[in-house]
Amino acid sequence: MRAVEVTALGGPEVLRLVERPDPEPGPGQVLVRIRAACVNPADIAARVGQIPGGPVPPPFLPGWDIAGEVAAVGEHVSGLTPGDAVAGMIPWFLTRGTPGGYAELVAADADWLVPVPAGLDPVVAATVPLNGLTAHRVLEIMALPGPATMLVTGASGGVGGFTAQLAAQAGHTVIATATHDDEEWVRGLGVHTVLPRSSKLDI
Ligand SMILES: NC(=O)c1ccc[n+]([C@@H]2O[C@H](COP(=O)([O-])OP(=O)(O)OC[C@H]3O[C@@H](n4cnc5c(N)ncnc54)[C@H](OP(=O)(O)O)[C@@H]3O)[C@@H](O)[C@H]2O)c1
Repeated sequence: MRAVEVTALGGPEVLRLVERPDPEPGPGQVLVRIRAACVNPADIAARVGQIPGGPVPPPFLPGWDIAGEVAAVGEHVSGLTPGDAVAGMIPWFLTRGTPGGYAELVAADADWLVPVPAGLDPVVAATVPLNGLTAHRVLEIMALPGPATMLVTGASGGVGGFTAQLAAQAGHTVIATATHDDEEWVRGLGVHTVLPRSSKLDI
């Protein structure tokens, strides 16, 4: 298979297209044919070597968030069969260098995958796992007892965008900051009031 490898710690220039043997799913794993992989801060932090526990020594295959189809299932996997659309995480820097999703195929733990609803573009699905989970945890940690008014900064970004949507869906009144060009898009997330990013916020 083709994959993208981090050959040394550094900027995007350290990424190289390489050929690697096709992975095989182990017990509890699913072989996923990747249709889209997200680039998020976790991948960038790993590439430059700034991750908890210290850098993973290169070479390694990055890629935390993926979407694709099940190509094969390993032993002890139930509920997923070849052809199913899935999205999920290869939380590879928690596991210190497990091959990630910047590849045509990846062996992923079934527990880290979820089915993708029919018709959802894999490019969209691949943006959901870590961004969406982070946003979900934000609201969980805040543990608001009832409807509140919430300010979401960076609402045009990955985490901010999901946080704004989940907060609005949970019944909160959401005020968000965004640059002018993103104002309409942010409003479309269900945000009630959009303030210019340059606003002097008195909070
Ligand atoms: N993505 C994840 O899954 C994840 C997980 C855990 C933690 N984090 C952390 O969460 C933070 C956001 O990550 P992200 O992936 O959402 O990044 P992102 O997609 O790049 O979004 C960043 C957001 O912040 C805004 N912003 C940037 N500089 C700003 C400034 N000086 N003043 C006001 N707004 C500014 C951007 O607005 P413009 O678009 O207008 O520039 C954008 O809306 C990062 O610190 C990241 O390390 C992310």
